[in-house]
Amino acid sequence: MKLLDTKLLKVLAFCGVFLLLAAVGGVIALVVLSLQSNNVICADSTGCKNSTSLQNCDCGISAAATSRIIGGSDVTTGQFPFQVSLQTNSSHICGGTLVSCSWVLTARHCFSGSTTPQDWVAVVGTLNLNDVTSPNVQKRVLKNIVYYNTSSSNDNDIALVELQSPVVFTEFVQPACLPLDTTMLTVGQTCTILGWGLTSEGGSPSYNLLQAQINLYSNSECQNLLNTPITNSMICAGVPNGGADTCQGDSGGPLLCADNETKKWIVAGITSSGHGCGRPNSPGVYTRTTDFNSWIRSYVFS
Ligand code: ARG
Repeated sequence: MKLLDTKLLKVLAFCGVFLLLAAVGGVIALVVLSLQSNNVICADSTGCKNSTSLQNCDCGISAAATSRIIGGSDVTTGQFPFQVSLQTNSSHICGGTLVSCSWVLTARHCFSGSTTPQDWVAVVGTLNLNDVTSPNVQKRVLKNIVYYNTSSSNDNDIALVELQSPVVFTEFVQPACLPLDTTMLTVGQTCTILGWGLTSEGGSPSYNLLQAQINLYSNSECQNLLNTPITNSMICAGVPNGGADTCQGDSGGPLLCADNETKKWIVAGITSSGHGCGRPNSPGVYTRTTDFNSWIRSYVFS
């Protein structure tokens, strides 16, 4: 009887220790896995928090070898995997730029119709707005809409929206780079605009994502041309003869400029306003993202 008891105890103790070890092992495995998948799925790595170099940040990478919108051409698969369509009731309202697995940068004026996050769906991973069945498409309801401030002026046309759950980074879904504290934009520099907006003034939208190349203007020249105040938190871009521009429906989408050091795509501007679309000597007005760098980073890398 005594012997049995000890044996039983030993067996029980063995089982107990075994179970404990298994449990501890399981917890460790889970933690390691979730840390790993955090790194793999969402690259908000320390490399992206660096505000002076993009070298160690997995952002702004185009799958294509090279790098209507008005005067646009079709975007190819994986070329700009950060383009977002912001939709209410399954219709496209505005563009946006994926800047992390949970945050999309867009224009404040996009929410004039509804400021309720749950009314909005962010669609990523597609070039064609009719293609709702593609396995590459990821859709997320919004959890949060953050405005830079509450004034209703045309200035500060910027908003950050948070997704209800993070998207998974794939070949078709990647973040663009945020500007650096050192990002220098030069007048005349060629940058790229993207969108599903109208392909001519008063015309119809495009089902395929279009791109066009335009050049940066100085604020003073832009203000003279448009005869309207261009503040320090705006940047203008266009082509002198017109014919390449953003238009209604492109708002919120990116003005992308290549980083000098790494050639990765930086979201340098947010499509905001203009006089008509594609007119000669009438550049489009974009929110100057570099002016909001610390505000954006405080949410995206918090
Ligand atoms: N406000 C427009 C929108 O809501 C964008 C206009 C841009 N206009 C221009 N000519 N660049 O989609």
